[in-house]
Amino acid sequence: MITTRGGIVTGWGIAVPDKVVTNDDLSVTLDTNDAWIQERTGIRERRIGGTTSQLAIEAGLAALAKAGRRPDEIDAVILATTTPDQMVPATSATVQDGIGITGGAFDVNAACSGFVYALSVAHGLLAIGAERLLVIGAETLSRITDWDERGVAVLVGDGAGAVVLEAVDGPGQLLSWVLGADGSLRHLLKCDHGGYLYMDGKEIFRKAVRVVVDSAEQAIAEAGLTVDDIDLIVPHQANLRIITAACQRLGIPEEKAVVVIDRYGNTSSASIPLALVDALDTGRLEKGDHVLLTGFGGGMTWASAVLHWGG
Ligand code: COA
Repeated sequence: MITTRGGIVTGWGIAVPDKVVTNDDLSVTLDTNDAWIQERTGIRERRIGGTTSQLAIEAGLAALAKAGRRPDEIDAVILATTTPDQMVPATSATVQDGIGITGGAFDVNAACSGFVYALSVAHGLLAIGAERLLVIGAETLSRITDWDERGVAVLVGDGAGAVVLEAVDGPGQLLSWVLGADGSLRHLLKCDHGGYLYMDGKEIFRKAVRVVVDSAEQAIAEAGLTVDDIDLIVPHQANLRIITAACQRLGIPEEKAVVVIDRYGNTSSASIPLALVDALDTGRLEKGDHVLLTGFGGGMTWASAVLHWGG
């Protein structure tokens, strides 16, 4: 990657609703049970509630506080979401107002790959002169879920994660990025206006492992690294079995994967930043580490990036 101006993450934060919904809670109204959900997905519980903008604002404020930055020092807020509060305006406008950011605001919708897409776009803005950006992934999938449809209801959750990205001279932290899409597969995961989330779980599972492995291998190679150089993998949290299969095929020990799906379920654009912040807060990701972010989602879209943490 050729750049004379890169970025580093200087702050991070998350927000999740207070309401915890366990697998046992779901089995009261659905023909399902805790053992099936845990064995097939790795999910124990999820958080439900709030709006996408509320969660994004809370996570964004936490990231600003951690970075020691004021809202008026941010050139733009980029919100990755597939569950906007409204069709128009973009939810990032509500976030801009709620936080008091004086810069620009726009949404990115690349489904569950959205945060890595947003992070890549943000690095592009830094390269052309932006100083500081707030990148957020926030979702309220619960709002587009049919809670009588067990195939989807057991999988989803709400939440948000955010990072502050600051410009540095030189290449910064982002060593490579791979963004991909295949719109001929858009029927596999969709939500029509006013409708509910539909997914062909089996087919997505099959495709997801392939695109994660292919894009991750490409990102690692473009970073000039091998899989052995990867210290930590922060995958999209859709199903623990997808994470396990992807690690096995990549040849990355599963212990290097950050897993938060047990607590939060699939939170789409929020899942990678939720996992990233978990790794940071528990000391699993430190300056100098090579971290692989990799996601896939509706579209289909996929995205992988390798960061040299701390630049
Ligand atoms: N509770 C209990 N049983 C369930 C169930 C549930 N929530 N959902 C399905 N079942 C049953 C099925 O009816 C089937 O029963 P049968 O064998 O009697 O026909 C059995 O469990 C197995 O179903 P299957 O669909 O084959 O399960 P699976 O192992 O493929 O797991 C998913 C289903 C959805 C968990 C899995 O396919 C998946 O996670 N796919 C990826 C989804 C995804 O990533 N989506 C987001 C993309 S960003």
